[in-house]
Order: sequence, then C-alpha cells, then structure tokens
Amino acid sequence: MKIISTRRSQVLAGRIAEILQKPLVDVRWTQFPDGEIYLRSGEISDRMVIVGSLVESDDLIELLLLTDVCSGSDITLVLPYMGYARQDKQFNPGEPLSARIIARTLGSGVSRVITVNLHEKSIVPFFGVPTIDTSLAGEMTSAIQKLSCNSPLILGPDIGAAELAQNIGAAGGWESDHLHKVRLSGVEVRIEPKEIPVKGRDVVIIDDIISTGGTQATAAAMLLEQGAASICTVCVHGVLATGAYTHLKSAGISQVISSDTIESACSGYTAARIIADALNR
Ligand code: R5P
Repeated sequence: MKIISTRRSQVLAGRIAEILQKPLVDVRWTQFPDGEIYLRSGEISDRMVIVGSLVESDDLIELLLLTDVCSGSDITLVLPYMGYARQDKQFNPGEPLSARIIARTLGSGVSRVITVNLHEKSIVPFFGVPTIDTSLAGEMTSAIQKLSCNSPLILGPDIGAAELAQNIGAAGGWESDHLHKVRLSGVEVRIEPKEIPVKGRDVVIIDDIISTGGTQATAAAMLLEQGAASICTVCVHGVLATGAYTHLKSAGISQVISSDTIESACSGYTAARIIADALNR
C-alpha cells in the first residue's frame, strides 16, 4: 500500500503514512500556461490510498487526475472534507443536488471511500461504493480537554450539531445543549433567543464546519450578552472563508480550533489516527 495526496492534504497524508508506516508517493505538480493542472507521480503500487479534501473546484480536478494515475490499482479514496455536501437536497426547483453528483463522480473509479464527519449521512449512498464516514468526536473531546476551560458547557449552534455536542459532552463529562439557527443567506444567520445558564461559564461552541463564521459569531454574541465568561470554538472542518477567523476573533471568541481535514494555522488536532484506523479495518 502507498499513500498519494493532492496539494491541499499533504500534511494529513504524511501523518497517515507515518501511522501506517507506508510510503508516500512523490508527486510533482505544475500548471500549464492556460491554468490547467499537470502532475507527474512517482511509482504507484497495487493498493493505493488517495488523500484529498475538496474545498475549491481545483481540488476536484486534482482528485480526478490522481484517480486516473492510480487506475489499475485497488484505490481507497480518503476525502477528509467534502465540499458541496451542504447542497445535499434540492431546496428549490432548478437547483442541482450537488452532493450527489460530486459523490458519484468521485466514487466511480475507486473501490471504497473514507470520509470524516460528512455534513449529512444521507450522502453516503451517493458514492456508489462501500463508504465509511468516520467521526472526530473523540479527537474534539481531547482538544477541548487541552483548553484552559473550567467545566465547559458544550454547545451546538443548531439542531444539526446537537448530536455531536451531546457525544462530546458525554465523553468529556460536561454539560451540553444546542441552539436553534435560522439561515437567512449564505453569510447571515439568526439564532433564536434561548436563555441558557451561561453566566460566568466557559462555553465551547462545536460544529462540523466553520465556513464564514457567521453561525459561531452570532451565537457568541448572544452568549456573551448573557454573561458567558469565555467562548472557544472547536470544529472539524475549518473552511474559514471570507475572513472568518477575524470575524470570529472580533466577535469575542478567544480560540478557534479545527482539525487538519483542511490544513491551516487553526488546525489544532489531527484526523490522521481515525483515518488510519478506518484504513486498517
Ligand atoms: C451548517 O449546517 C453547518 O453545520 C455549519 O453550521 C455551517 O456550515 C456554518 O457556516 P458559517 O460558518 O458560514 O455560518
């Protein structure tokens, strides 16, 4: 078995390779003058693991090119972050079911897929091959234990994050709760007023994705208004689009921690162990 990765997920791929004690394939990436992506890979083996998060459109091209380079091998695709997963339904007439076409495209040509905290479990069958959706709830719990929080309240900002908040709360022995969010636009949300006993307490807002930071910043404003002592945020996928980090910091959030499913300066814990365990199954 060898591991090969897109440019976006090099560090995570390296960590997985180290845990599994498997070689990383060297890939030389360049661009044609018109912007098309070119790659030349080192030697491929009969079992290949492709690691690559899909954040921007070029990531999809890189994943497809790697799948072609590895065709002829038994391929496992590790998709740490799957962009387009939030368009998992046709919410309005005329919209694409983006998650379905992305999953179908990536699933064809590989034998199995491993994902991490997929936005919706209902996406899994779209890959059309055996797919394991892993969860970083345990890693998030450890990351929260390392924060200097005193018996934190674990809060999901919406109903979609309620189960994750509950699991983390149960694992860490902390109280958990969730809020109710109404999305007004791609960048604007409203959090329904809810009285939570946060006065003087350290609160950790958890979520699967931080994209614009609007959800977390709006929740933080309400909690600080209600007297919370401190707010940290721990998510799985730190997309951090459109200046999200500064938005979160100026909203009074003291720490922003994400995993390395999207590698950034906020990556404070790793998905490598959970992915390596799934690859060993
Ligand atoms: C949505 O349901 C997700 O779980 C996140 O809450 C959402 O993607 C966060 O987006 P933003 O950071 O733009 O508010």
